[in-house]
Amino acid sequence: MPQKFKNYIGGEWREPASTRYFESLNPARTGDVIGQFPESSSSDVDQAVSAAKRAFATWSRVPAPQRGEVLRKIGDLLSARKNELAFEMTREMGKPFNETRGDVQEAIDTAYYAASETRRLFGYTVPSELPDKFNMTIRRPLGVCGIITAWNFPIAVPTWKMFPAIAAGNTVIFKPSEDAPHTGMLLVRVFEDAGLPGGVINLVQGGSEAGEALVSHPSVNAISFTGSSETGAKIGAECGRMHKRVSLEMGGKNPMIVLDDADLELALEGILWGAFGTTGQRCTATSRLIVHEKVHDDLVDRLRERASKLRLGYGNDEGVEMGPLINEDALNKVIRYVEIGQQEGAQLILGGRRATGPGLDEGYFFEPTIFTGVKRDMRIAQEEIFGPVLSVFKASSYEETIEIANDSRYGLSSSIYTRDVARAFRAMHDIDAGITYINGPTIGAEAHMPFGGVKQTGNGHREGGWEVFDFYTETKTVYVDYSGRLQKAQIDNAE
Ligand code: UN1
Repeated sequence: MPQKFKNYIGGEWREPASTRYFESLNPARTGDVIGQFPESSSSDVDQAVSAAKRAFATWSRVPAPQRGEVLRKIGDLLSARKNELAFEMTREMGKPFNETRGDVQEAIDTAYYAASETRRLFGYTVPSELPDKFNMTIRRPLGVCGIITAWNFPIAVPTWKMFPAIAAGNTVIFKPSEDAPHTGMLLVRVFEDAGLPGGVINLVQGGSEAGEALVSHPSVNAISFTGSSETGAKIGAECGRMHKRVSLEMGGKNPMIVLDDADLELALEGILWGAFGTTGQRCTATSRLIVHEKVHDDLVDRLRERASKLRLGYGNDEGVEMGPLINEDALNKVIRYVEIGQQEGAQLILGGRRATGPGLDEGYFFEPTIFTGVKRDMRIAQEEIFGPVLSVFKASSYEETIEIANDSRYGLSSSIYTRDVARAFRAMHDIDAGITYINGPTIGAEAHMPFGGVKQTGNGHREGGWEVFDFYTETKTVYVDYSGRLQKAQIDNAE
């Protein structure tokens, strides 16, 4: 019988009110059941909200730099447990051990970064238009924040949200993805062991029932979501109806442009990492490759050769470069898109099938897959596949590469390879995306830089960087009149 795990509410591990559980499996070896996790209902969410509200009353009054000290301890403990967390993360969601170590490192970076920002939660002061009057802004926390995340970065992405949230004095209810509940639980144990007061971060496991209860709870003041565009749209609508602050981080169809003057070996390394890292299951994955016609055939030949040699397997085994897809639905979705691409007339030049063989038959493995001759209106050019499928376009000019890159409903990450500094600078402005990498792949965000997308990728907010504190704080405007008389703005000082 697999181990049963609990929710963490108000500093206690609690069984779900529903007494229902769901299982989490190793996607590389589906016989390996990781555990059973609470299928939480609205009554578990209610308990978590009460605990978070209670904790907010004290946590929000702790001086911010002291909150930062707890974050620093969390960072230290994440460092001490880095390998253990990475191993368990690989086991649960499949990406290779070096990538899951990177995932934990991103959380460590975010912990220290957020800790340092607790000494800089600036407002500003400006002159008043009236004498003996002082104008300033201060930042106040929002209250209880609901955090709903995907499984592909099960430690990095939740902590991008939670750490700035708690640094700013908020309290949190965290609902991890149903595909990474164990990793979410291990993360929360770090908070407990680092001495974070009970109720500051609460863990509620489950699926849409728990998620919906969290989003629509009147005492949850803000929601931050990373996941599918479909779910994000529903969350956005509900939050809009309730006038609730919401940050949405959703799909991508990230382009990489390779111009005729690019260093092709460098670009090749970037494509392999960008398109097939995390088995293509990143919202920042390189899923469209736009190549200048002068170098197209040469680059594509080299790419096919290199991608065909990627080593698939269980990510905790030595030398594995690409893990499985997360679950059977993901596998079926990728299979369907390969069929669609073929029907649309793109040329399948590599992969396209479920990967089989020793060590692969019990997991959701899929071959690295490349389509060439992709046209802008094809579905494989427009829709997010979230798997190891790369769509390659041929273009005849810089202008055409930009047009193709921008022909997308999404706008998260992007990249351009060129040795021409003028074209690199032009592209920074021309590419319609939240992030542009010059001579690097579309992946590799750093904790202290803003992260987020334009168009249907997001709703205008940023994670990471200083900008995330704008999301997790409310600005209060304060006027101090020390003139000792009634002064009337716009009236006393006007003609
Ligand atoms: C995501 O795919 O949801 O830049 C986040 C990157 C990572 C974060 C990806 N640091 O690819």
